[in-house]
Amino acid sequence: MLYVDGKWVEQGEAAVQPEDRGYNFGDGIYEVVRIYQGRLYQWDAHMVRLYRSAREIRLTLPWSEAELTAIARQLLVKNNITPADDAILYLQITRGAAPRQHDIPADGIRPVIMAFVRRKERPLKELQTGISAKLVADIRWLRCDIKTLNLLGAVLVKQEAKDAGAADCILHRDGIVTECSAANLFAVKNGELYTHPANHLILHGITRQTVIDLAQQAGIPVHEQAFDTTFVRQADELFLTGTTSEVMPIISVDGQPVGSGQVGPMVRKLQELFEANINQSVQV
Ligand code: PDD
Repeated sequence: MLYVDGKWVEQGEAAVQPEDRGYNFGDGIYEVVRIYQGRLYQWDAHMVRLYRSAREIRLTLPWSEAELTAIARQLLVKNNITPADDAILYLQITRGAAPRQHDIPADGIRPVIMAFVRRKERPLKELQTGISAKLVADIRWLRCDIKTLNLLGAVLVKQEAKDAGAADCILHRDGIVTECSAANLFAVKNGELYTHPANHLILHGITRQTVIDLAQQAGIPVHEQAFDTTFVRQADELFLTGTTSEVMPIISVDGQPVGSGQVGPMVRKLQELFEANINQSVQV
């Protein structure tokens, strides 16, 4: 069952208003939350980011965090998500429906919420073997820190990578590397981690922050500083982080091996720390 605009409906029964601004303009925000063994992972951090995204697009959410949490819990129950299930929870909020105009309607517009859960296995095979990536120009807008429904840039860059036979893209703006289509990027050099600073050019990934925290607790130096495509090609190891991709090794870029071309020791170490963090995470 899905939760759509205040009602519980079956898949296929959900309706979208033709002039919903999410539908017309991508005028809305979303979150994807991981469910490990029937439990929401890092729900609180996703709520913090959702409210931040709302503020940044000048959208006042009519729901409290407690109300959204109640909806999430009911979604798990109504869809029989049990400790045997790994899944994702998708939650989106659009500004609502109003006669089409670009600027934000002054009043009479009510945000529309939609949420569902879907069973989804962890990418265990890829986490072991690693994936390939292609360097692609970052053609997205300049507020990548907001998790908005406007994902056409992400769609096109990911497809460009896929067309070249790569699993994902590594995005760069004039040679400065930002992130991937739906994940953040880290490079490893001489036992230290490098990742783009959390500014307007990347999404402030929750997995990214978790990995930074875990690395620092383990005494691994982390540099939140921009680097270029040459640094990527010369990295000892590369990996991306995201809610569904976790700590995913990248073993080749543009067909060239990264480091040894095998999944490296730093990625393995961080995967172990991440796994322990999943298991220790508390029930929301
Ligand atoms: N993507 N960068 C971008 C552009 C993203 O879309 C995402 C998440 C991330 C990683 O953020 P987090 O660790 O909080 O998931 C980085 C989600 C999963 C998606 O759109 O499917």
